[in-house]
Amino acid sequence: MASISRSSALQLLTLFLYALRFACSQPFIGVNYGQVADNLPPPSATAKLLKSTSFGNVRLYDADPELITALAGTGIGIVIGAANGDIPALASDPNSADQWISSHVLPFYPASNITLVTVGNEVLMSNDEGLISHLLPAMQNMQRALTAASLGGKIRVSTVHSMSLLSQSDPPSSGQFNPAHDDMMKKLLQFQRDNGSPLAINPYPFFAYQGDPRPETLAFCLFQPNSGRVDAGTGIKYMNMFDAQVDAVHSALNAMGFKDVEILVSETGWPYNGDPNEMGPSIENAKAYNGNLISHLRSMVGTPLMPGKSVETYIFALYDEDLKPGSASERSFGLFMPDLTMAYDAGLSKNSQTPAAKTPVVTPSPRPTSLGWCVPRVGIPDDQLQAGLNYACGQGIDCSPIQPGGACFEPNTMASHAAYAMNLYFQASGKNPWDCDFSQTATFTLNNPSYNGCMYPGGST
Ligand SMILES: *[C@@H]1O[C@H](CO)[C@@H](O)[C@H](O)[C@H]1NC(C)=O
Repeated sequence: MASISRSSALQLLTLFLYALRFACSQPFIGVNYGQVADNLPPPSATAKLLKSTSFGNVRLYDADPELITALAGTGIGIVIGAANGDIPALASDPNSADQWISSHVLPFYPASNITLVTVGNEVLMSNDEGLISHLLPAMQNMQRALTAASLGGKIRVSTVHSMSLLSQSDPPSSGQFNPAHDDMMKKLLQFQRDNGSPLAINPYPFFAYQGDPRPETLAFCLFQPNSGRVDAGTGIKYMNMFDAQVDAVHSALNAMGFKDVEILVSETGWPYNGDPNEMGPSIENAKAYNGNLISHLRSMVGTPLMPGKSVETYIFALYDEDLKPGSASERSFGLFMPDLTMAYDAGLSKNSQTPAAKTPVVTPSPRPTSLGWCVPRVGIPDDQLQAGLNYACGQGIDCSPIQPGGACFEPNTMASHAAYAMNLYFQASGKNPWDCDFSQTATFTLNNPSYNGCMYPGGST
């Protein structure tokens, strides 16, 4: 008898602790765990760290078995991903999807709470027609494999898009997907509707600010006091960029007849450090963005077009990724340091349930209201530059200046030709910050890249 009552007391205690965890963790707030780094703490330490925060979910870019195992029994929702390189096999061989599920899901589920499998990352922006045409069949095979394993409806299947999937987003009510992807998006969204899976997308107010570095834009991006922006289409006044971007996605879904498909913010964040020429990175701004975003999500007010609920959101990122190429900000999105201390206090600790204090408006030094030019980041390999160049020149812009005999042909390098094409595309497509993304290979500059007879359009509002 004594041992039975002891074990039921233990059970009660376990239930109590379980309930307590639910009281503190937020099912709609998650964090991205990128691993392009050589200084990450061991998976067990990361699992412990996650348990101490109010993150209810974590997103992995792959399916690291060690971290998935370390999260067993925590209840923390886990998003795992199949890489772009896996897509052709997943699409053409149904056994490949069965094998993927057998090795990446079945050994861990349900002890580890895997909730979503993302198939590919920013595939539609890759400009790789072979890959793009394989995306939906790969997702279908993944879904079929999950259903065959009796996990249909328990684990969802999606793919991740960059915000440049939208050709228009301002004002939010005019949001629309790039018509070049119309057919594909309709089929994809039909699949997602049929299977109850969310459209996963990466809105970054940080990039919006980089494209329009004015103090009032910064306040709008950081959820700080500002005069708001009225959407002329609806008369709705937006008070922050996050809501505006998410509602633009909602409008794009609506325009295509899929407003019932849920939106999942698979990445958003703000770097706390950057190169001297980068606009916006700082500890104050990162703390303001992430802290205020978390308060906003916790408040459950939702967005003007989707009131009363919070979009499932994954902050980028848990740690810095010290091996990422490109500008310094790319390596400075971490909320935590490798020694598990906070980079800054964004109000994430389980004990700090009070919303993060609003930080005062940070006024950056005055800058010209110039959008600048769009150029490749430093250190991007030629094949990726080529993909960006092909994409840009395939969208109806005039790339003849970088052909032999053209004013911008010399220097005849991939970097120079890609810079011309990326900038022209950015200038021609409405100067949305995400039109200067090219799968994260491009960035803004305030230095006019024009030279000799080669003119780069842009640079003034
Ligand atoms: C798994 O994670 C999801 C998302 O956070 C949550 O809603 C669900 O309750 C979790 N399941 C368990 C068994 O903890």
